[in-house]
Amino acid sequence: MMRVRTNLFVLLSLAFLLCVLHSSAQLPPDAVVSARLLDAHLQDWAFKALSSPRTGVPYDAQVPTNLTGIKVSAVRLRSGSLRTKGVQSYKEFDIPIGVAESPYVERLVLVYHNLGNWSHKFYPLPGYSYLTPLLGLLAYSGTNLSASGLPELDLRASHKPVLVKFPYVEPAPFGALPKCVYFDLHGSPQFDIVLPGNVCSTMQQGHFSIVVESNAPSQAPSDGKNKFMLKIVVPSVVGGVVLLIILWLLLVRVRRYCERKSIQQMEGVAHSSETLDITYIGDTKVPSAFGIRTSPTIENDYFP
Ligand SMILES: *[C@@H]1O[C@H](CO)[C@@H](O)[C@H](O)[C@H]1NC(C)=O
Ligand SMILES: *[C@@H]1O[C@H](CO)[C@@H](O)[C@H](O)[C@H]1NC(C)=O
Ligand SMILES: *[C@@H]1O[C@H](CO)[C@@H](O)[C@H](O)[C@H]1NC(C)=O
Repeated sequence: MMRVRTNLFVLLSLAFLLCVLHSSAQLPPDAVVSARLLDAHLQDWAFKALSSPRTGVPYDAQVPTNLTGIKVSAVRLRSGSLRTKGVQSYKEFDIPIGVAESPYVERLVLVYHNLGNWSHKFYPLPGYSYLTPLLGLLAYSGTNLSASGLPELDLRASHKPVLVKFPYVEPAPFGALPKCVYFDLHGSPQFDIVLPGNVCSTMQQGHFSIVVESNAPSQAPSDGKNKFMLKIVVPSVVGGVVLLIILWLLLVRVRRYCERKSIQQMEGVAHSSETLDITYIGDTKVPSAFGIRTSPTIENDYFP
């Protein structure tokens, strides 16, 4: 009974620890919702720009005035030509041959996003600053150009990666290392190295930028400190306490096991037929077994 409860406690502690660690590497849920809503609106606005499109020609779309700063564009392609020819340069994206969508459609539309000064609003990334606008590339079926609320197709590169070439990157603070960041459609960020020429590479669709770790504590004393407390100190302390509890439980378990072992050994000794005689040396009681075991003999063989 005791053991079951202890195991359950350890499991719960571990689950809690994992939750704490995991939650720091994901956009907050409301941000994911608003980012996905934005994707849906941008698809809608981008498709409106494609009234009678020529295949392979990009069309820039209008965004409402309350989203000024965001740019969106769309290009319609034959799926076969995307796979066999790629797209040399669509805005900042270089699409190699071998990129395919699933499920298969005959024509598809690539929607391009440039979130401009809205990047950190829709994709808040605590502890990092954006050095470029966040750029997005998402694929939709091009069968019905008046459709809205379309699901994204799954777009994947097979041989070579899609390259994102950032023409302008804000200089990073001295000593800081810029990184590529990639958000999938669920809002989980992944980091990667920046290739020469401010290039990020990807095998999938999503949103891309170059970021740098912001030394928040020194930049914004109160806000930064709070973030630092929330993101670093609190999880570390909680994690430490949980680890200590687990260690302590293990120690208790090991000690109990050892005690049980030694009691069993003592019982074993007590029950064995060989009883120990007790001898007194001065005031001290010592066990002695003289005469019961074979008495020691001097082995002369080794001394020539
Ligand atoms: C922009 O305005 C529309 C209504 O015209 C509103 O539904 C939407 O929430 C606004 N977006 C932002 C980001 O303020
Ligand atoms: C981005 O800049 C535009 C003007 O260029 C402004 O209207 C808009 O409010 C800005 N957006 C944010 C999130 O600051
Ligand atoms: C295209 O989508 C629109 C809006 O969802 C719908 O009303 C229309 O029937 C669709 N057209 C075809 C040919 O599926």
